Amino acid sequence: MQTFLVTGAAGFIGSHSVEWLLKQGVRVIGVDNLRTGRLENLVVAHTSPDFEWVNADAGDETAMRILFQQHRFAGVLHLAALVSVPESFHEPALNYRINLAAADSIARLCLEFDCKRLVFASSAAVYGVVASLPNRESDLPQPQSPYAAAKLAAEVMLLGYAASYGLEAVCLRYFNVYGLRQDPASPYSGVLSIFTDRFRHGLPVIVHGDGEQTRDFISVRDVARANGEVLTRGGVASGRYNVCTGRAISLNQVLAIYRELFPNTPPAEYAAARVGDIRHSLGDPGLLRNRLEFNAKIPFAQGLYELAHGEDKKSVVMA
Ligand SMILES: NC(=O)c1ccc[n+]([C@@H]2O[C@H](COP(=O)([O-])OP(=O)(O)OC[C@H]3O[C@@H](n4cnc5c(N)ncnc54)[C@H](O)[C@@H]3O)[C@@H](O)[C@H]2O)c1
Repeated sequence: MQTFLVTGAAGFIGSHSVEWLLKQGVRVIGVDNLRTGRLENLVVAHTSPDFEWVNADAGDETAMRILFQQHRFAGVLHLAALVSVPESFHEPALNYRINLAAADSIARLCLEFDCKRLVFASSAAVYGVVASLPNRESDLPQPQSPYAAAKLAAEVMLLGYAASYGLEAVCLRYFNVYGLRQDPASPYSGVLSIFTDRFRHGLPVIVHGDGEQTRDFISVRDVARANGEVLTRGGVASGRYNVCTGRAISLNQVLAIYRELFPNTPPAEYAAARVGDIRHSLGDPGLLRNRLEFNAKIPFAQGLYELAHGEDKKSVVMA
């Protein structure tokens, strides 16, 4: 049985990715230091005898070396990160340590222990403000935050190791991931988890700007499948790949769907646009589709329904 290492396993994307991998019949070692992740996220994973949880800092090379010595990892999914863009402005040194140095350390351990494949959680944030959309992997990245800069620098390090030593380094640039287990309590959470929380409590949502700003929202279940397939199937050359749907959804469209799901909630309140918020974000999913035949499958309205009701049942028609 193959064994895979997942860092950031107790997080939002990590816990879904672990579950996807366990369903394929592989063994998973999940590492997390619970900085932003939660043990409750691993309840399902813990029902499998093939899952092992390790409380450790992914950037602690000594602790991680012990894991690499104990297991012969077939691949590593490195998700552990300082995930808040605003926090990266306040804590640039920590951002450097978690988002860049830890990725470098994990990559060198992969080389040392002959673990061929490293899948790295990058971000659409690396694109920054570009002249035209959709973002393509060939666009010149223009990071606008310490977070985005560290993600891009980690991509460069990993791809440098790929070219130098033959490591298979696949950097996945996620766009706006949404779904169950995204923490709405953080002011830096994804907009959909915050909206969902407000709707569930019968509170009006606050929209910054006119609501016509758009995002390429992708379900965490699609992202977990992309992570898992890239990790286990191989066949994707080292490089950078968008993980997105290629469809732009405005916040006003989101609200229209929510009004169907929660008809009795008060109308949204519109506030001033936030300084620095980008107006539109959209990715081109073509490269991963060509290399892996990967298509995001969850229709947005269905994903939103699952998020709103905390279950995977019926689908609703997109407004
Ligand atoms: N959610 C999104 O929309 C999105 C978009 C682009 C990129 N990403 C990237 O995806 C990855 C997962 O993000 P998420 O949304 O699931 O966030 P998350 O906060 O739920 O998950 C991150 C996990 O990493 C853990 N962690 C942080 N530092 C660690 C360390 N030093 N050692 C061990 N564990 C550590 C946290 O405790 C948490 O469980 C991150 O790399 C993030 O930058 C997420």
